[in-house]
Amino acid sequence: MMVGAASAAPTLFFTSRFEPSRSVNPDSPLSTNIARQVARRRTFAIISHPDAGKTTLTEKLLLFGGAIQMAGTVKARKSGKYATSDWLEVEKQRGISVASSVMQFEYDDCVVNLLDTPGHKDFSEDTYRVLTAVDAAVMVVDAAKGVEEQTIKLLEVCRLRDTPIITFINKLDREVREPLELLDEIESILKIHCAPVTWPIGMGKRFQGVYHLLNDEVLHFVPGEEKADQEFQTLRGEAIDRLRNEFPQEFDTLDMEVELVRGAGASFEIEDFLKGKQTPVFFGSGINNFGVREILRALVDWAPPPQARAADTPAGSRYVDPAEQPFTGFVFKIQANMDPNHRDRIAFFRVCSGQYTPGMKVKQRRTNKEIKIANAVVFMANERQRSEEAYAGDIIGIHNHGQLQIGDVLTEGESLHYKGIPYFAPDLFSKPRLRDPLKSKQLQKGLRELGEEGAIQVFAPLVDSNLLLGAVGPLQFEVVEHRLKTEYGVDAMFQPAGIHTARWVTCDDAAHLAEFVKAQQMRLARDVDDNLVYLADNHVNLSLAMERWPRVKFHNTREHGQQLG
Ligand code: G4P
Repeated sequence: MMVGAASAAPTLFFTSRFEPSRSVNPDSPLSTNIARQVARRRTFAIISHPDAGKTTLTEKLLLFGGAIQMAGTVKARKSGKYATSDWLEVEKQRGISVASSVMQFEYDDCVVNLLDTPGHKDFSEDTYRVLTAVDAAVMVVDAAKGVEEQTIKLLEVCRLRDTPIITFINKLDREVREPLELLDEIESILKIHCAPVTWPIGMGKRFQGVYHLLNDEVLHFVPGEEKADQEFQTLRGEAIDRLRNEFPQEFDTLDMEVELVRGAGASFEIEDFLKGKQTPVFFGSGINNFGVREILRALVDWAPPPQARAADTPAGSRYVDPAEQPFTGFVFKIQANMDPNHRDRIAFFRVCSGQYTPGMKVKQRRTNKEIKIANAVVFMANERQRSEEAYAGDIIGIHNHGQLQIGDVLTEGESLHYKGIPYFAPDLFSKPRLRDPLKSKQLQKGLRELGEEGAIQVFAPLVDSNLLLGAVGPLQFEVVEHRLKTEYGVDAMFQPAGIHTARWVTCDDAAHLAEFVKAQQMRLARDVDDNLVYLADNHVNLSLAMERWPRVKFHNTREHGQQLG
């Protein structure tokens, strides 16, 4: 059937706005201010491979959300042109700002929190951990390149919590790959069902826009100057026919592809999206503002507000409802060296329930100590501001001098621990070497503390007294080198360790585990929490060990503070 042939009244798009009752535990007092605030929150991150268009889309979302007035702000930061005073030196060189880590803005009565996932050379364990603090993610795919390596890794992390994913296939203004082929690739590589919501009409110079499968209308693309308030024309009925007459070949292809897509039964189902099983797919061109509004609407209308989170308590496991009165949350990232003389740090804290108010006293579960949060900040798109209130889904930055660690839970009293803030198996390993051998004690102390804080993973090999460091991105080594120098007065260099990957190992049978340790001790180490880790020289080596020791479990993540059995 020809698309747009029936000029019946368009079906309403985005009708399924999340009602609080669908997301918040029905037993919770829905009438409270907290519940209303929670229902307005949308907290998400953008995941992509470098150069797919994450920075561009971030900027356009902020522009459409009214958080910035001019394109170029985020981009300038990325390229280091943006001047501000409080950057960590390493960051300064790289042009990342603390303020761009979290960007909050309001859109259509929703409070949207966009969390940055550091990419390029800044890719680190933080990138993964940010994903533990969001309720949804937008995946940007370069339509010329398809699914790329970093996207695969990031999606795996999203899958740990079945995070709902919205897909944006970018750069349709260029000659790119066939849309059906791209969807096929996403489905087969990322193992997630695709439900196209828009479908491209042509590409490159002949890109005419997208057909909206739910609304039976065409969003007409007109290339040109990018403007913040650029509105693309929506065509229906006869207006579509006129465009069809101009571009018959593109529309014939569209008819055929839409029929195939509909025939395959890939229609959008919000429940499947919320379970992380299906992703709504949008095509567009970020740089041209095209398709950006649809992404923002999908976030506001379809992405979930904060959900109940699993936690361990002395009385057993329970789900903490975001509308519960007592304040709770966890630290998912530490930004250090705001001022190296004072070991000044900002802990990025995701609120999970209750309400933050300045000066409130909370309990740190790990140490059982009381902490007063007097000076938290929220990160607005362009500046840091004192936060007057925050609710589940919001991120606050808590100044501290090293008391807070990644994974730390703060509550208004209850002793609970949030699950799902893991350490990830490192891909990069190095051996620190001292330039001044007399500083060995300081090096051990520095590495232990930085390891506990979560800046880097530190392993003590069973048969070697030299510590090993593990990271998921090279920036982590640079940061540690810098911090060892400025905070501990240790001049160290890092040499490659010849290790490919690591796995935490456990076994139900202690005697069998002891046998494994004896046989494999050359390849084993202990992490900061004394857990046993298998260090593999290469992929084959790991596969062989797994084959030979089928009763030993090899894990590629472990929870913060968790002592594996
Ligand atoms: P990233 O954060 O994912 O690394 O990507 P970023 O937004 O920086 O985009 C990477 C490159 O792709 C940039 O070009 C950007 O302009 C371009 N780009 C983003 N969206 C689109 C699009 O819809 N169409 C086209 N044709 N290009 C797009 P660059 O040359 O690296 O930088 P610049 O010189 O444009 O700043």
